[in-house]
Amino acid sequence: MDMELDSAEAAETNISSAPVDLRRVGAHPDHWYPVAWSHEVKKGQVVASSFAGEPIAIVRPQQGDVYALEDRCAHRQVPLSKGSVKDCRVHCCYHGWSYDASGKCDVPYIGKGKQPNGVRVYPSAECDGIIFIWPGSLPAAPPPASLGAAGDKAYKTRSFGRIVNCHYTFMHENLMDMNHQFLHIRTTGKVTPRYLGRRAGEGWMELDYTFARPDSKQPLGESLITGGFRSDASKPRDLMTIRTEYPHQTLRFFAGGGDVPALYVWLGYTPVDVEQRKNRSFIHLSVRRPKIPGVLDLAWPVLTWFTNRVFEEDRIIVELEQAAYDAQGADWNQEVFPPIRELRDLLSRNGRVMAARQA
Ligand code: FES
Ligand SMILES: [Fe+2]
Repeated sequence: MDMELDSAEAAETNISSAPVDLRRVGAHPDHWYPVAWSHEVKKGQVVASSFAGEPIAIVRPQQGDVYALEDRCAHRQVPLSKGSVKDCRVHCCYHGWSYDASGKCDVPYIGKGKQPNGVRVYPSAECDGIIFIWPGSLPAAPPPASLGAAGDKAYKTRSFGRIVNCHYTFMHENLMDMNHQFLHIRTTGKVTPRYLGRRAGEGWMELDYTFARPDSKQPLGESLITGGFRSDASKPRDLMTIRTEYPHQTLRFFAGGGDVPALYVWLGYTPVDVEQRKNRSFIHLSVRRPKIPGVLDLAWPVLTWFTNRVFEEDRIIVELEQAAYDAQGADWNQEVFPPIRELRDLLSRNGRVMAARQA
């Protein structure tokens, strides 16, 4: 199919001249980013993480809050995450220099007045089972107070994620463009999404969709989440709202005119490497508990299987998108769906263009 649009059509569909290569736009560091699950950093442990190629050591002291330091010893630059935690300090594994939550270092074999400079501290916070850091240079904004419905007892939450070998913007586009249900046809059966409209503001936008099932067959895993799509036109329709609130996303599903989400998903994507070709995804998938206790617990294995499969299909496809970008050396995408063009602009405006690649 010829996808070229003439200038009149381009104006109609709000096609910009796309001056920026979106895959060269870095995640803006002046935001909170997830760097570890809380359970990964036990008391008295130090764990390695990263943000866009910056190595970060996350420390959970025996008492008190988690803290995050540059993952390098100020002495000979070996990772502090190879060290050990005693009381409130992390000790480098080589000569035993130790660091506190302010990044100040203490060299055990020289006098108090001769202590060298320490390392950078990243503001850190913990919310609903995830450790966040603020990698930017501006003063940190208040940390997230909740992540979707993960802290709400009325919901049962599945927390999962992994390294995905693609730029974080592919993740945003994938979730927000529900026209990709074709990808999931073997898992979900045939689903026809219908775009209803969008809202947008400074740093955020959200899209509404409803769905129809031409063959009215719904897989069990999906109906456990949604309570079943309503195809009867006389009943209130189901509504899915997908939101990018830079740099995170949420998906809410409201069944049959309800005003409380039956499904609430929170997603965070943290670039791992300096080129930002990999991201670590953190997902809380929360399903509202039905009135009959225990039903959701019984259904959980089916629901887990179903959601794993859908997310795996998405992972494979976004990694193929990244591979195509890498092979082509530029963004050849021809995006024709105006809301996704708008999302690309939002991601581009709010991100930060990366330095030119080394030859
Ligand atoms: S390299 Fe860390 S104490 Fe020497
Ligand atoms: Fe998908």
